[in-house]
Amino acid sequence: MAAVRRRLLLLLLLTTFLLTVTLTSSISEVEALLKLKKSFDPSPSLDDWVTTSDACENQWNGVVCFNDIVTGLRLQEMSLSGTIDIEALRGMPGLRTISFANNSFSGPIPEFHKLGALKALYLSNNQFSGEIPGDFFSPMGSLKKLWLDHNKFTGNIPESTMKLRNLIELHLEGNQFSGPIPPLKQPTLVTSLNLSNNKLEGEIPETLSKFGANSFAANDGLCGKTLNKDCPKTNPTATPQAGEPPKAPSGDNSSATNKKAVAVGVVAFLIFFIFIFVIFAKRKDHDDFSVLGKEPLNHDQVVQVHVSRESSSTKRTSSSKKGDSTRLRSGSRRAKNGMGDLEMVNDEKGSFGLPDLMKAAAEVLGNGGLGSAYKAVMANGLGVVVKRMREMNRLTRDNFDAEMRRLGALRHPNILTPLAYHYRREEKLVVSEYMSKGSLLYILHGDRGICHSQLSWPTRLKIIKGIANGIGFLHKEFASYDLPHGNLKSSNVLLDENYEPLLSDYAFHPLINPNSAVQAMFAFKTPEYVQFQQVSHKSDVYCLGIIILETLTGKFPSQYLSNGKGGTDVVQWVHTAISEDKEIELIDPEISNDTNSLGMMVKLLQIGADCTESDTQQRLDMSEAIRKIEEIQV
Ligand SMILES: *[C@@H]1O[C@H](CO)[C@@H](O)[C@H](O)[C@H]1NC(C)=O
Ligand SMILES: *[C@@H]1O[C@H](CO)[C@@H](O)[C@H](O)[C@H]1NC(C)=O
Repeated sequence: MAAVRRRLLLLLLLTTFLLTVTLTSSISEVEALLKLKKSFDPSPSLDDWVTTSDACENQWNGVVCFNDIVTGLRLQEMSLSGTIDIEALRGMPGLRTISFANNSFSGPIPEFHKLGALKALYLSNNQFSGEIPGDFFSPMGSLKKLWLDHNKFTGNIPESTMKLRNLIELHLEGNQFSGPIPPLKQPTLVTSLNLSNNKLEGEIPETLSKFGANSFAANDGLCGKTLNKDCPKTNPTATPQAGEPPKAPSGDNSSATNKKAVAVGVVAFLIFFIFIFVIFAKRKDHDDFSVLGKEPLNHDQVVQVHVSRESSSTKRTSSSKKGDSTRLRSGSRRAKNGMGDLEMVNDEKGSFGLPDLMKAAAEVLGNGGLGSAYKAVMANGLGVVVKRMREMNRLTRDNFDAEMRRLGALRHPNILTPLAYHYRREEKLVVSEYMSKGSLLYILHGDRGICHSQLSWPTRLKIIKGIANGIGFLHKEFASYDLPHGNLKSSNVLLDENYEPLLSDYAFHPLINPNSAVQAMFAFKTPEYVQFQQVSHKSDVYCLGIIILETLTGKFPSQYLSNGKGGTDVVQWVHTAISEDKEIELIDPEISNDTNSLGMMVKLLQIGADCTESDTQQRLDMSEAIRKIEEIQV
């Protein structure tokens, strides 16, 4: 028993240690860029890339930064040649867009597939040659724009290009690709496709029928309706079923390939689990490409702990059970020893100190992008969640205190108000009340069968309305912030025993180091950030939309995984379904049998779609979204 109680202290010390070790071992982005430059043949275009300056601050030629991290490399038309050091590129975890277009690189395609988070890759107008392995692009699930045109690539078009789930632009024209065109898995999303001037042959797949002859010109062996050229009779190509979720197998009718895909899936699944296990076992830090991937652990794995009712020897634990606030003492406690104590910012659940936490029975809840979370049940019976926040060093101690007190003073039925914090230079602890049902993420995806079926349509609607209320409150309260919430996602929506949702981890943007904010806050996964490095109040609207779609479909959104692998791209799925009038097929079967309410569910789904429009102009604004949600009735 004593051993269990000492776990929190132990964990605190252990994680601090591991964190320090990992932070000092990663190379800087400046070093990575210089390493990259070294792999190129010498070029005057990169003369300002020197050790004595800073890539972002001094705006190195071709380097695109946001909040002091490198997000893009625009190295087109610089007469560059030589090799491209992929390991150096991997040293820039924020990198999303790379252009080497109009240079003189040659040889086989570099191992860009190791950059799983890339959104856009432009290699147009170089001398790259050779075959590209069929599965080359499979690890690049986030890739939206792929331009390989006007090189000297040969062999088949890699099948994996056509399976990219987020693909918008694909340009392969002006190469020597041969053989048939693989079917395109996500035709709705692709707006720009060019395969002209190659050596392709066979029938143009049905899935590409929306593109004109211009996209296929100058391939003598191609045939089909698009080109007004009949094909020699063969067995017809299968087409994907409309309205299917994006992850369903597509028109690929080779069963060998399907088997392979299943095998890859199983292996990926196993790796995912091993990965989770490793995180749990070691708290190994900072694979930035998967920071969000760790999130599903939040509020998972909560083990019921024995709550000791014995009274503590310190006076601090004399406070009564939660809810019985009249007997509680108030007032914050100042440091009495060298370590400093907790600062109470909200006395509603009583007052406690660090020693009470240290004595509490503690359990790890999981690791999120911003830090790790523990559950602690103190001797007085109050259960709290302690979040260790790394990378929250933006404010001075006084300003941090002011900010936390501001948060601690918030009162709203759908807002989880922090109770206390602990300040140390390197790390902060934020303490809030533990909510018995855990997070919405956990309820929806954690343990299907036990929890899930409790979520009827009325409950889901109540949750969404509660979230809308909470976020509306935050948008009034923090109207001057770029991101009044900034990290709205189902793991940050906690549910009390009546399934009333409470938002947590809000308004942290001004507290967090900019680099970490980009990595860890969900608002930075929105299309406007990915494309234009911008966030706004509408980014919270997008996040709200994801939760609506997630709650209605019961699917785990791929948007929560920063590498885009796994889960369902709920945004694309719903937009496709709406264009095909098949919204009902998306509704979670657990609630879709409630046929009287289907109309309302579809209406809410439409709101979710309107909240996740990638064009912020077309996206609803927060007040419209809330008003529309309020109109939905059970
Ligand atoms: C590359 O060069 C071509 C022809 O000079 C030009 O049309 C194109 O815009 C250039 N592309 C980029 C990305 O610089
Ligand atoms: C495809 O590329 C060719 C050659 O570069 C160009 O002439 C044609 O207009 C392009 N077609 C489309 C649809 O972009």
